[in-house]
Amino acid sequence: MGNTIEGMRVLITGGAKGIGAETARMFAMEGGARTIYLADIDDEAGGKTAKELSALCGNAHTGENAHASGGAHSGVNEHSGGGARLCECVYRRLDVADEVGVAALFREIEADGGLDVLFNCAGITSVKNLFETDKALWDRIMSVNVTSVFLLSKEAMRIMSAQKSGRIINVSSVSAYVGGIRTSPAYAASKAAILGLTRSLAKYGAPYNVTVNAVAPGIVDTDMTRDPDFVYSADEVPLGGAASPADIARTVLFLAGEGGNHITGQCINVNGGMFFA
Ligand SMILES: NC(=O)c1ccc[n+]([C@@H]2O[C@H](COP(=O)([O-])OP(=O)(O)OC[C@H]3O[C@@H](n4cnc5c(N)ncnc54)[C@H](O)[C@@H]3O)[C@@H](O)[C@H]2O)c1
Repeated sequence: MGNTIEGMRVLITGGAKGIGAETARMFAMEGGARTIYLADIDDEAGGKTAKELSALCGNAHTGENAHASGGAHSGVNEHSGGGARLCECVYRRLDVADEVGVAALFREIEADGGLDVLFNCAGITSVKNLFETDKALWDRIMSVNVTSVFLLSKEAMRIMSAQKSGRIINVSSVSAYVGGIRTSPAYAASKAAILGLTRSLAKYGAPYNVTVNAVAPGIVDTDMTRDPDFVYSADEVPLGGAASPADIARTVLFLAGEGGNHITGQCINVNGGMFFA
């Protein structure tokens, strides 16, 4: 059986692009997920990703040149023959730091029947140093990178503990261990907080068969690191350059599937040898 997540319902924050979008693609194409919610604030990229993924799901399952239906912000595929739903990928606008918005999305998810995997991937960074980081920047980074994970995981845990099954996967960073790579102290602190939060949630979830883990990427080739202010050299990564989003997505898929059955409270470093835990 391998690492299938066949039929699962998945919520990915920050799923419009980068690591989140690639993980959604892998969940749909290789894992066989049934429903994928992409929650993001980038409506254009989110709508496009949802539409593309639904079209891909159709192609993968039917061999037809399926095109996603739905508007700019959603993509849904129907089996052209019997009308059975094969794979659905929907975009929902959500600022993950907005408690009211998080609660509203989970009401929808609950009404749809539940949730099997929450991938808390949304995140922001800054290259501002200690004295350039004011309280407003600190608060925003902590809200988006940490408070959101608390809010979303609490909602997910409510559903998953009642189901007696579920997977929550968070994103830390090599920055948590090495004090940031040219990033603001707020970013390093936020990603270190993810480690403690992951362990706390893991302790809560274990009796309910809900696992909670994190991945800690090093440098990944996404818009975040393509920012001209984020200067790095391939030499900093012993395995030779930045990771691809797929390198991270594969680890998330592993944790979400059967490979992760007996793993909880852990953080898997996917950093090309930048740091050995
Ligand atoms: N790229 C790297 O080198 C790297 C390294 C370590 C950790 N990470 C972490 O990986 C995660 C994904 O980053 P990425 O590299 O794919 O970056 P990215 O910028 O390509 O994607 C981040 C996504 O999060 C979304 N987002 C930002 N703020 C949001 C908010 N308030 N609400 C909802 N969505 C929001 C963005 O719109 C975007 O779609 C982040 O948590 C990041 O900190 C990235």
